[in-house]
Amino acid sequence: MAIAKHTHIAIFGTSLIRKMFNEGTRLKKEFGADNVYDFSLGNPNVLPPVEFTEAVIKIMKKKIPYKHAYMTNGGYAETREYVANFLTDEQGVELRKEDIIMTCGAGAALNLLFQAILNVGDNVVVSIPNFVVYKTYVENFGGVLKTVPCQENFNLDLEAMEAALNKDTAAVIINSPNNPSGVIYPESQIKDLSVMLERKSRELNRQIYLVSDEPYRQIVFDGVEVPPILSNYSNSILVSSYSKSLSIPGERIGWAAIHPDAEDADLIMQAMIMSTTGMGFTNAPALMQRAIVEVNGITVDPEVYRKKRDLLSSPLKEMGYDFILPHGTFYLFIKAPGGDDIEFAQLLQDENILSVPGSGFNMPGYFRLSYCVEDNVIINSIPGFKRAIKKVLAKVS
Ligand SMILES: Cc1ncc(COP(=O)(O)O)c(C=O)c1O
Repeated sequence: MAIAKHTHIAIFGTSLIRKMFNEGTRLKKEFGADNVYDFSLGNPNVLPPVEFTEAVIKIMKKKIPYKHAYMTNGGYAETREYVANFLTDEQGVELRKEDIIMTCGAGAALNLLFQAILNVGDNVVVSIPNFVVYKTYVENFGGVLKTVPCQENFNLDLEAMEAALNKDTAAVIINSPNNPSGVIYPESQIKDLSVMLERKSRELNRQIYLVSDEPYRQIVFDGVEVPPILSNYSNSILVSSYSKSLSIPGERIGWAAIHPDAEDADLIMQAMIMSTTGMGFTNAPALMQRAIVEVNGITVDPEVYRKKRDLLSSPLKEMGYDFILPHGTFYLFIKAPGGDDIEFAQLLQDENILSVPGSGFNMPGYFRLSYCVEDNVIINSIPGFKRAIKKVLAKVS
């Protein structure tokens, strides 16, 4: 085999989402795009806010020396300052521009971070269901991703998490609002988690970092708020991007923010900044860094997603699909009727509906629907969902 072993494993690990993506392409060719209902990828269909487009045009028209040139690897001082101020307000902890690094999305931020903090054999603990690519991000640097069960409502199971921590644990990673469950961990959980991590760090004589991956923080509805992390746990690092909040995942712009009181905060930042060149991305896109300062906190309207959630979830609930209505993200994570997620995803596929089985998120028995699609896709898919659940109900009765 010519391909490296770790690459082979990584490809296998993400194969469920890839398989669905490829199936979608095949089905669209066979039946026409309008007759395929693709809920597989979290690729927002909503356009970026007009303020974003205007900002990009304005910057492009403006004469700025070295506008498209290399820059300091951590990003423009002005952009880092902007993010630091924004997060100071949001998190209730004073951040300086030196605590921020601009990155090519949250994915690059996590890679840079794990490169900075992981020794070979260290582990990173995460609650299921989890974003599948974490495993690759961690394994890229010789680490091991340890998954732990969650509560039935997808909240953290802190006992299970505590049991998984050991002397090789470098970090715990949380993702709230969560992909795929949509759950938002309440502040009481974040506080309990912080107390537990402080206790375990003392017991194990190793400072365990809390990494909070938050690309969906702005996509929330029903008046629910996402609690701050930095003010609850000082050994913490935030990672996010504008992929979802501005609907620009292809533009690759995000950041990491290190709590100034985190262990070795300055060293981690130095290591991350230094690694950008070695990793091959050198710096976050110049145009995007300027644009997000101009856009100044404006986001896509989460209400658009709330309406799509209701458009999809109401008929599904009526048909007997079993799920917890999420207050954030653009995902529904649903119990697979009949219990087998792979089998049920196939039944949906027979209806030209593409989903991702929960096995792709380390949680078999569920399937994920990404409803960041046109309303028509949702409306036209409903009869197919009905036929699929009917087939399973007919089998069991
Ligand atoms: C939970 C989570 N983390 C990280 C990412 C990576 O996002 P990006 O690199 O586009 O910021 C995604 C993308 O879907 C995600 O769902």
